[in-house]
Amino acid sequence: MKQVPSVLFVCLGNICRSPMAEAAFRKAAANAGMEAVADSAGTASYHVGSAPDPRSITTAARYGIDILDYQGRQISGQDYTRFTHIFALDAANLSDIRRRAPANTTAEIALLLDVVEGREGQDVVDPYHGNQDDFETTWADVSAAAEALVARFLSGRD
Ligand code: 4NP
Repeated sequence: MKQVPSVLFVCLGNICRSPMAEAAFRKAAANAGMEAVADSAGTASYHVGSAPDPRSITTAARYGIDILDYQGRQISGQDYTRFTHIFALDAANLSDIRRRAPANTTAEIALLLDVVEGREGQDVVDPYHGNQDDFETTWADVSAAAEALVARFLSGRD
């Protein structure tokens, strides 16, 4: 039987972009009736144990998803075998994730926007120093990626 996709979204702090990516993917999978595991993490440890940024919480809530109880954590060595896919929100995080990959890594590691036609190679821009509009842009980016990912998993291309 085919493995249920388990997807880890990774940004720097795990309080802005990756919690929204996790939420958007959970929503897209649920809407499609697709079984999937989702989580998020940061490459940095600044916000371990913290709730998402209030602007991320507000943005996700606007789209019907409560992320208040998400808790920041740092990516660990076990993540590379626990998840089938690890998606980096930007190129800097992608290179950090690759550099730290243990020898027994089984997860496919890729840049998130590579799954979106026409956005290949692009970063989901860090909205941390921005305003609420920047968080809306982040939501649009991670939602496009979530939809594309679900379509890809449902089509059997993993
Ligand atoms: P994120 O945004 O990587 O999308 O969660 C950031 C959050 C916090 C910091 C940087 C980026 N920081 O420097 O504390």
